[in-house]
Amino acid sequence: MLIFSLFLGWTPNQVFAKIARQLQGDNAVNRVLEPEELMDEVAQAEAYATSDFAEPHEAFVTRFAETFPDFSSGKVADLCCGPADPTIRFARRYPDTCVVGYDGAESMLTFGRKAVTQAGLDFRISLKHQLLPIPARTEPQFNAVLCNGSMHHLPNSTILWDTVKNIGMIGSLVFIMDLTRPATTEAAEVLVQQHTKATDPKLMRRDFYNSLLAAFRPEEVRVDLDAAGLDHFRVEVVSDRHMMIYGQLR
Ligand SMILES: C[S@@+](CC[C@H](N)C(=O)[O-])C[C@H]1O[C@@H](n2cnc3c(N)ncnc32)[C@H](O)[C@@H]1O
Repeated sequence: MLIFSLFLGWTPNQVFAKIARQLQGDNAVNRVLEPEELMDEVAQAEAYATSDFAEPHEAFVTRFAETFPDFSSGKVADLCCGPADPTIRFARRYPDTCVVGYDGAESMLTFGRKAVTQAGLDFRISLKHQLLPIPARTEPQFNAVLCNGSMHHLPNSTILWDTVKNIGMIGSLVFIMDLTRPATTEAAEVLVQQHTKATDPKLMRRDFYNSLLAAFRPEEVRVDLDAAGLDHFRVEVVSDRHMMIYGQLR
């Protein structure tokens, strides 16, 4: 199959992605997009903004620090920043940075702006209403581009890779974390049971299930990165439901 597929013009990574999917069997679940790409409803934004994500958001910043130990200062973009909790944690960890958070949902940004003011970080964090992809700009580019827990909201990952290339420059650090899609719907149900409490709101459990089914698989990300000319970027599975994607723009 490998030889035949290469003959058809597929890249080796495309072939391996296909083999991986076949090995998952007939049950392998296809990506099911989130019912709404943006989280623009006030109630939804409030539910998200008031949830406790301290542990995963702190882990996001810690993993960035472990991945890029030499980074200390500069201009940073946080894509799909939502209510800006990871944005604030990042700015606190790196006092010599200025961070611009972008999100397409104004209701999320309203919560984010309040949180930034409460954190006393208005002088270093600005939040902008902006739908991805962000077009190429003439303003100074970013030294680092972040995105946490949002890639699965996008209809395709090219939107993210185009944005990264448009707002980054040679040497920019790129760091993304997101869910990975389980192989089957049954595996998604097990993850929901393992990582939520019976007392958690039903809506939250349902949203987590939907997010898992909307997520990309690591091998799909690999193929998309290669197609975007980011073949030197790494994709690492870091838990039973998370992957991190990182690299430096050339
Ligand atoms: C699950 S939230 C994550 C927010 C934040 N990064 C965090 O870790 O808490 C996903 C966010 O992506 C935003 N989003 C989805 N698609 C977008 C797009 N095309 N452009 C900009 N923002 C988008 C949603 O509005 C939402 O705020």
